[in-house]
Amino acid sequence: MTIIITGVAGFIGSNFLKYYLRRYPEDKVIGIDKLTYAGNLENIKEELERDNFVFIREDITNMKKIDEIFEEDEIDAVINFAAESHVDRSIEDPQIFLKTNVIGTQVLLDVAKKHWFRDGRWKDDKRFIQISTDEVYGALGPTGFFVETTPLNPRSPYSASKAAADLVIRAYHETFGMPVNITRCSNNYGPYQFPEKLIPLMINNALNHKELPVYGDGKQIRDWLYVEDHCRAIDLVMEKGKIGEVYNIGGHNEKENIYIVSKIIELLREMTGDEEIDESLIRHVKDRPGHDRRYAIDPSKIRNELGWEPSIPFDEGIKKTVEWYLNNREWMNRVTSGEYMKYYERMYGWR
Ligand SMILES: NC(=O)c1ccc[n+]([C@@H]2O[C@H](COP(=O)([O-])OP(=O)(O)OC[C@H]3O[C@@H](n4cnc5c(N)ncnc54)[C@H](O)[C@@H]3O)[C@@H](O)[C@H]2O)c1
Repeated sequence: MTIIITGVAGFIGSNFLKYYLRRYPEDKVIGIDKLTYAGNLENIKEELERDNFVFIREDITNMKKIDEIFEEDEIDAVINFAAESHVDRSIEDPQIFLKTNVIGTQVLLDVAKKHWFRDGRWKDDKRFIQISTDEVYGALGPTGFFVETTPLNPRSPYSASKAAADLVIRAYHETFGMPVNITRCSNNYGPYQFPEKLIPLMINNALNHKELPVYGDGKQIRDWLYVEDHCRAIDLVMEKGKIGEVYNIGGHNEKENIYIVSKIIELLREMTGDEEIDESLIRHVKDRPGHDRRYAIDPSKIRNELGWEPSIPFDEGIKKTVEWYLNNREWMNRVTSGEYMKYYERMYGWR
């Protein structure tokens, strides 16, 4: 197989690349990433050395370049992780979210369709997997779960752009018969997540004795899943998912944000012995506008149809995660420093 992973230098894309190459060491992987602030080649340093992995720095909205990549190799699958992914940034500047998340997806679909639909039929065994999010469903009250048929009700520019992409994909399946799947996962956590998202942000700030900013009362609920469990679910969907279907992926692991922050403080104190890391660092700040109160996923469909279960309990996953960031403080400093792109520009001769 030759597959394309877009957003390969981001958090989940880089974890998926590692997972995939471990599981299918003979396959060829073409990784595409624009390398925004969130995409870091540090995340895939070791994979860059491999003969069966090719990295291409490119924007998924560039149809000509994406077409050239399809011209060069017979591509069997596209797994689209590339996205602008931070809700706060989408509130500040929605346009790039629409451009990358919607137009970028449509470009990938069009190019794949051009190469996969020949002489009036789809070539065998091709698959386009869109990595979507539970945020497309909007917010839940204190009870209930999102299922695949829950109506889309996005409430932030980020989730609206992801929902729009999901609808475009459904249209390509219904109109052209394109072999697609959409996966909608809950909040991921684990190594290589850019330190603007809740868990790595809190770890980084606590280690530097900086305030831990918590939105509103901190009682917003998210369903946390260890990133490797997500990667395994995507692999199963690629292998056995029914064409055209949506699969929700979730950990049945609902936690309030404030609980997560307290847990990080507890673990960091234990692991570092640093007494200055305590609850007094927490500062409640003005809530995010339109902040969804609760997300929770019902993963029955992927469990019953594909036999997927999360395998890493939260207590184990969060411990591994905190440990990873502690052991990779240099990574943290590098990816948050302005020097990062200059370093790679020098290394690869990019302008
Ligand atoms: N992180 C989560 O908890 C979570 C949960 C559910 C779904 N998702 C979805 O999973 C995907 C990956 O999320 P993530 O957390 O790894 O995000 P991320 O921000 O860490 O990574 C996104 C990657 O996409 C790249 N990118 C951005 N714009 C691009 C463009 N125009 N062309 C090419 N590459 C571009 C970035 O450089 C980055 O490497 C996203 O589609 C997101 O919506 C994330």
